[in-house]
Amino acid sequence: MEVIIKNVKEDACKLGAKIISCLIHDKENTVLGLATGATPLLLYKELVRFHKQEGLSFKKVSTFNLDEYVGLSPKDPRSFNSYMSENLFKHIDISPEAINIPDGCAKDVLESCEAYERNIHNAGGIDLQVLGIGNDGHLAFNEPSSSLSSRTRIKTLTKVTRKANAESFGGEDNVPKHVITMGLGTIMETRSCLLLAFGKKKAEAVKAMIEGPITASCPASILQFHQHAIILLDSDAASLLTRREYYMEVYAGKPEWQKWE
Ligand code: GLP
Repeated sequence: MEVIIKNVKEDACKLGAKIISCLIHDKENTVLGLATGATPLLLYKELVRFHKQEGLSFKKVSTFNLDEYVGLSPKDPRSFNSYMSENLFKHIDISPEAINIPDGCAKDVLESCEAYERNIHNAGGIDLQVLGIGNDGHLAFNEPSSSLSSRTRIKTLTKVTRKANAESFGGEDNVPKHVITMGLGTIMETRSCLLLAFGKKKAEAVKAMIEGPITASCPASILQFHQHAIILLDSDAASLLTRREYYMEVYAGKPEWQKWE
């Protein structure tokens, strides 16, 4: 894992957007995996700025989102589909056909999950997956106890997650109980991933993910096995890390050719 600690989330998101834009410049037909939630909002804002002010084009980029609520249509303002459109897609030049988000209204859920996996494969696999982390260490909607080799499938949300996402639904009782999510096995096959975590309330999950044991009780800890996981933190989210000074030393001493900034 490459752990990068910035003082504030604004700087972390600027760096995250730089990493993504370097990838898009370097590789034609980049396949991005995208996440929702409060955490990546500034990252998407910065990518929109890169597009509008620095000529970053998404014309050849395709995307796969991590998850979606079961029962919400793409037009529902509470859906992740709407979130992506509002916060990124409608501001950039991505082709609508290149956007993939799990279908929360699929009649045949099993077939639709298998098709999602096939589509990722047919696109050549995901080059970089953006991730957040739940307060309980969940990744996408892979709740604690998820199989560490799971694929895209239906999952039941825990009360903790329904509570965390209650605001946009006007109370936790209205949050859908079921979701479609990429599995941990699906995420582990991505070529690289960029996990963002900000604020004190993420500090315990971040510590468990980076320095705790690999366990389904903290699904994000599976990233210790990932071939190329970049973890971008602000100082609050990094506050409980035992090897914090070491991670900072490593980042400061990166060889020139590996630097993004
Ligand atoms: C949600 C999403 C995750 C996200 C996490 C954290 O449940 N499915 O993809 O990373 O919760 O959300 P936030 O960024 O709002 O803290």
